[in-house]
Amino acid sequence: MCGIVGYVGPKDCTEVLISALSKLEYRGYDSAGIAVFENGQISVEKAKGRLKNLEEKMEKGHRPKGHVGIGHTRWATHGEPSDINSHPHGNKRVSIVHNGIIENYIKIKNFLVDKGYEFVSETDTETVAKLLDFYYEGNPVETITRVLGEIEGSYALGIMFSEYPDTIYAARKDSPLIIGVGEGENFIASDVPAILKYTRHYYLLEQNEIAVITKDSVEIKGLHGEKIEKELQYAGWDEEAAEKGGYEHFMLKEIHEQPAVIKRTILPRIMDGMPFLEECGITSEMLKSFRKIYIVACGTAMHAGLVGKYVIERIAETEVIVDIASEFRYRNPLIGKEDLVMLISQSGETADTKAVLRLAKEKQATTISVVNVKGSSIARESDFVIYTHAGPEISVASTKAYSVQLSIMYLFAFQLAYAKGIIDEKRCRELTLELQEIPDIIEKALEIEEKCQFIGSRLMNADSLLYIGRGLDYALSMEGSLKLKEISYIHSEAYAAGELKHGTISLVTDEMPVIAVATQDDLLEKTISNIKEVKARGALVILICKETTDVSHDIADYQVKVPVAEDILMPMAAAVPMQLIAYYTSVLRGCDVDKPRNLAKSVTVE
Ligand code: G6P
Repeated sequence: MCGIVGYVGPKDCTEVLISALSKLEYRGYDSAGIAVFENGQISVEKAKGRLKNLEEKMEKGHRPKGHVGIGHTRWATHGEPSDINSHPHGNKRVSIVHNGIIENYIKIKNFLVDKGYEFVSETDTETVAKLLDFYYEGNPVETITRVLGEIEGSYALGIMFSEYPDTIYAARKDSPLIIGVGEGENFIASDVPAILKYTRHYYLLEQNEIAVITKDSVEIKGLHGEKIEKELQYAGWDEEAAEKGGYEHFMLKEIHEQPAVIKRTILPRIMDGMPFLEECGITSEMLKSFRKIYIVACGTAMHAGLVGKYVIERIAETEVIVDIASEFRYRNPLIGKEDLVMLISQSGETADTKAVLRLAKEKQATTISVVNVKGSSIARESDFVIYTHAGPEISVASTKAYSVQLSIMYLFAFQLAYAKGIIDEKRCRELTLELQEIPDIIEKALEIEEKCQFIGSRLMNADSLLYIGRGLDYALSMEGSLKLKEISYIHSEAYAAGELKHGTISLVTDEMPVIAVATQDDLLEKTISNIKEVKARGALVILICKETTDVSHDIADYQVKVPVAEDILMPMAAAVPMQLIAYYTSVLRGCDVDKPRNLAKSVTVE
């Protein structure tokens, strides 16, 4: 949540900050702001809403000129989106940008008010800015260290002190921050895409580290002033990977990237036709030793975990408990050292998922994370990490990251099933081969794009709709429904088809379209019966089924036929029309597809 950036170098700082922030808007776009050293003074410009509002404001008004500065794009937590609550916060001496939440800000605020400080915003961040000002006696690092000792919560901070106009300072705890290293210029950013236009080299700032950054140097220190040496990281992605590449939206581009990124994710984990998670240090011996498997995640990643549960239970006959991270962490999860806790996260920074990881470690369970962003907190802190190779996912609504997470769920299930002797080598090879064919099947599934656009035109005026399915189709329906509601703002629920008659069917009328997913042969008849129940109540029904499924035309108003894979792998193919239907419905309704309202891609607050 929130994106922060900073620049020190010869270029026009405002231009660099705006360009870097434009790559971080996926982290929030309630407001944007920059602070730049201009003629030795801190010059601040901020505006509510999208970055373009700030740009327009600066075009008409004042555009700071300078070479050192910090910037912010906000996802509001404390205080409504407004000019006044926008970052940077501070005064003439100190200016800061912040991503995270300061939990004890009220206590600090009261303390500072007693000392005579006045507050203009409702943000937690302003208290940090004023606390820095309060303790400042000329030594920035000492001041920052002191303040870090007093604030509680999560933060990535970019800081400027007016007495040091050639330097920016950064610190982090529980919110991500990288330091981009260029030639004669350096950067800070919440995420790598922000700096790719300028450099591919960066350092990862770790917990409780403070960085002092000038155009020619990056110095990193611990809380006790000790100097820390870091390994320079290299971003394999180029800038183009974070651009739209001719597509109208990132979401559509990312849907189309799925065949390639699935290949990239699974191939290194297949050896001689067999799953090979040893590539990530995960041995078969280890896999079969677990008493129970928990999969914990948020949002789309949790939906990938749900598919994982069905697959692992069916193929590997091992019980899997799937939960939402924000729920799991606050109940009393009965995990122990014999258990495996698997965390799935595209960003690797989701606060609740990270908290579950730490809880699992406290309880001495083994932790495996499935993460897309290299070097992110969850990846670094878990015992084992299986990286998905989706590349940067910019659209807030996740598509390709979901598919690669699914592909890992399959490889994991196959290896576990084989390790436990539930399937023999021949079957394991067969399944692995089927998985390798999925990219081609998805390529074919992408050919039904026009049909999905048409379906979108039938859904665009609905106020509410239902997704129904059984088993794996139910797990997939949950993701389909989330996709549609998050980007088109049409209310939508996913329901287990068999559960409909226990209440929800009373909502079904000719004004409630139903998307029925029926890709599983063993459940087809049962789902068809449920479809008939909603059809009889006037619903417009869209059936998503396999190309080979032969059901009478009057079962549904429209049938979307998906290229065939083994039943167990069908969620990977059927996800494509679900994503495309959501995409086109959103486009036809004129919504902001890549940046749906109120959402952020990386949720680093609870
Ligand atoms: C946000 C995003 C979702 C994502 C969820 C979990 O809500 O908008 O697309 O699924 O966070 O994120 P993670 O990075 O942990 O997968």
